[in-house]
Amino acid sequence: MSWLFRKLVRPALFALNPETAHEFGIDALRFGLGTAAARNVASRLYGSEFSFGPIERFGLRFANPLGIAAGFDKNGVAVNALAALGFGFVEVGTVTLRPQTGNPKPRLFRLVEDGALINRLGFNNDGVERVVARLRRASHRCIVGINIGKNRDVPVDDAIPNYVDCFRRAYSAADYVAVNVSSPNTPNLRELQRPESLRELLRELQNVNGELSGTSALKPLFVKIAPDVAESDVEAIVGIALEFDLAGLIATNTTVERSGLRSDATETGGLSGKPLRDRSTGIVRLAHRHSKGRLPIIGVGGIFSAGDAFEKIAAGASLVQAYTGFVYGGPSFAGEIVRGLDAILTRLGFTSYEEAVGSGARP
Ligand SMILES: Cc1cc2nc3c(=O)[nH]c(=O)nc-3n(C[C@H](O)[C@H](O)[C@H](O)COP(=O)(O)O)c2cc1C
Repeated sequence: MSWLFRKLVRPALFALNPETAHEFGIDALRFGLGTAAARNVASRLYGSEFSFGPIERFGLRFANPLGIAAGFDKNGVAVNALAALGFGFVEVGTVTLRPQTGNPKPRLFRLVEDGALINRLGFNNDGVERVVARLRRASHRCIVGINIGKNRDVPVDDAIPNYVDCFRRAYSAADYVAVNVSSPNTPNLRELQRPESLRELLRELQNVNGELSGTSALKPLFVKIAPDVAESDVEAIVGIALEFDLAGLIATNTTVERSGLRSDATETGGLSGKPLRDRSTGIVRLAHRHSKGRLPIIGVGGIFSAGDAFEKIAAGASLVQAYTGFVYGGPSFAGEIVRGLDAILTRLGFTSYEEAVGSGARP
């Protein structure tokens, strides 16, 4: 099936402008796999069996370790369709407190020679209330995270109440919440990664988390970081995440770096895909080392193959996510990665998934 996508469907989609192709893809998932019967067929064709699963983390059970990264299903319209294609979890969003339209188009670009994308979408989304209402209407066949961000018109100095209100509304519909302080497309957002700002933001969010959770366990809270941070920042962020009892770190978002590209990449925005892979794996490795393995990490950036996913796990990622690899790989992508990971873990003689995390083994 994957040859059919590569020979016929991808060329047709890639003839469209990237954002139109994305909308077409989302509609194909939303309506084409809109019924349980259609999803069962897709699941048989493309789904994934993971013999090392389920993976228990932060009180949640993941059927397999591969999720679809934030930004693909920003409005939570295709969660079950993505699960049918073999993803073990879906991170919806980034959602903001109020709906917003994002930056002017064009704002999404393909770098085909590099296996990459550049985007400067700027958190176009329906707003947290509509997304949460939509998510609550359906029951989901995989873990659902909600990634939250700040409205563009809110100055970074006033960001905390905006995040807190968004978190309050996202809480009930999310299995976990990811705090996005790393998108390059909302002016000054990444300043919130600075230790003093991050500490204040996470303190407030965890206070509200405690209030909403009552006597139950806290909602697993993650912070998603950029790949363009210094080693000392990674160390500081890890320390803050541990201090505030975060469930973990998501590493990484897109990069503003442009080195080593074959394509002429003049567009501003965040670069994702193959050129990001080693940089993000490096951040996973650093975070794992600085936390001495105590802080779970979701590794994301440039995963195109099972070997790429395994590299992130061996560097310390407990779970992985992909976006750009799915755009290039099509509907068979998740199943191929998950089955391939299963084969790698078996070949290397691991008897449990846990053993592979941070093992430093090579695929
Ligand atoms: C078109 C596009 C939109 C994205 N939107 C978001 C977003 O809204 N929030 C977020 O945290 N990350 C967003 N990302 C970043 C991805 O979640 C991921 O961190 C990054 O693309 C690296 O993974 P990849 O190389 O597998 O694509 C977006 C990425 C792309 C390509």
